[in-house]
Amino acid sequence: MEDLSILKPLYGPYFLAKTKSGNKVKVPRTVSGEKWKGILLKENTYLPTEWERLNFYLRRVPSCGYYPFCSGCQWQHIRFEVQVKFKKALFEEYLGFEPDKVLISPSEWGYRIKTFLYLKDGKLGFKKAWFYDLQQPVLNIDHCPLLHSSLNKAIFLLKRAKLPDSLYAVELLANPQNGEVFAKLLFYKRNFPTEEVVNSLVENLKPAFAGIGIYKGEYLHWERIKIAGRWNSSIRIGLYNFLISPDAFIQPNYFLWKEFINIVRPLKNYRVGLELYSGIGFFTLHLSKFVETLYSSELSREATLLRKENLKRNGIKNVKVLQKDAYKHLKNFEGAELLVVDPPRGGLTKPLIDEILRKKPKEIIYISCNLESLRRDLEILKEEYKIVKSALVDQFPNTYHIESVIWLLKR
Ligand SMILES: C[S@@+](CC[C@H](N)C(=O)[O-])C[C@H]1O[C@@H](n2cnc3c(N)ncnc32)[C@H](O)[C@@H]1O
Repeated sequence: MEDLSILKPLYGPYFLAKTKSGNKVKVPRTVSGEKWKGILLKENTYLPTEWERLNFYLRRVPSCGYYPFCSGCQWQHIRFEVQVKFKKALFEEYLGFEPDKVLISPSEWGYRIKTFLYLKDGKLGFKKAWFYDLQQPVLNIDHCPLLHSSLNKAIFLLKRAKLPDSLYAVELLANPQNGEVFAKLLFYKRNFPTEEVVNSLVENLKPAFAGIGIYKGEYLHWERIKIAGRWNSSIRIGLYNFLISPDAFIQPNYFLWKEFINIVRPLKNYRVGLELYSGIGFFTLHLSKFVETLYSSELSREATLLRKENLKRNGIKNVKVLQKDAYKHLKNFEGAELLVVDPPRGGLTKPLIDEILRKKPKEIIYISCNLESLRRDLEILKEEYKIVKSALVDQFPNTYHIESVIWLLKR
C-alpha cells in the first residue's frame, strides 16, 4: 500500500500524484488536493483504495450507477464547473496559452448522438476500466446518462431482442431532432452468421430502427453487406440542412453543433480556400461564405457524396468537392490563402506539415480532438506561423477529452 498525494489532472483518465518518497505516479478516479492509499497496478499507475482526505470542494457524488467501473466517464465524480476549469488548465499547460473562448455544453448529460456497444458473453455495453479489471470485459449497461434519450431507448430494445452470440458490436447513431436511430451490426469475418440468422435478426429489430446495416470484417475495416431501411437522415443546424449517415463522421455533441460551426470562420475573407478532412461538410457550408472559391476534400466516399448533397441542398455553388487523401490533395494544390484542417486523433502527418510550410497559406484554422497531437503539430507550425486566436470546445463533458480550434497567421 502506498500513500498518494493527488496533485493535478493529466490529459488522460488519471491524476498526477506523488508518493511518500517523492515519485510521480498516475492515479485514476481521484481529484487534486486529495490524499489516498493505493496499490500498484503496473509501472507507475496506482489504484486508489482508501481515502484519507477527499476534496469536497471539487467533488460530487457521481449519479451513474456504472461509475467508476465503466471506462467511459473518467471525470463524473468532479463538479461540472471544475471539469471545465481543469480542461482550461490542461489546454494552457499543453499549448502555452489560455483559450480565448470556451464553448461549454449547455448540458453535461444526454449530449452524445453516437455510441459503440460491445457484445460479449450475453452482455451488451461498454468496456470496463482496465484498472478494475485488466481483461476489460464488457460491462452490461441498460442506460448511459451521456447518451441522447433515443439511444437509451434503442439499447433497451436491443436488450429485449435475441442478439446472436456471433455479434461483435453495435454502433448506434441518433438523429436528435426526430428521434430516428440507425444501427450498425458488426460481425467478425470468422464468425459471420448464416443468411437465415442475419435475416431473422433484421426482421426482429426492424421496428425499432430507421435503418439497420450488417457489416463483416475486423478491427477498423468493416465491409457493409446489407442495409434494411434508410441509411441517412436530415438535420437542421441554424440556417443549414444536412444529410447525415451512420457511415460518415458527425461531431458527437449535438448541443454544440450550431455554435461550433459559427466559430470556425477565418479572420478575414480570402479568394481561395482549401479545407482538408471535410467529412459531410459540417464546417464547409459556413466556410464557403468567407472565400470566393473553396476546395474541400475528404478520404471517405460516403462522406464526400453527402458533402456534395449538403452543398446542393443549401444552394452553395462556390465549393469544389473532392474525394482525396489530405496529403495528396495539398501536395498537388497551389494558391490556397486559407487552409482549414480537422484531422482524426493522430493529427497531421509530418509530410503534410512540411507541405503546409512549403505552400505557405496566409491563414490556417486547425480543429483538433487531441491535445497531444495538436501540441506536436503546433510546435512545428509555430516556426512559420503565429497563433492569433484559440477556442476550447467542451464537446465531451464528464470525460477528459478536449476539442480545440486554433487560428494561425503566416509570420
Ligand atoms: C475529425 S473528422 C472531421 C470531419 C468534418 N470536418 C466534421 O467536422 O464533420 C476527420 C475526417 O477525416 C477523414 N480522414 C481520415 N483520414 C483522412 C485522410 N488521410 N485524408 C483525408 N481525410 C481523412 C475522416 O473520414 C473524417 O471524416
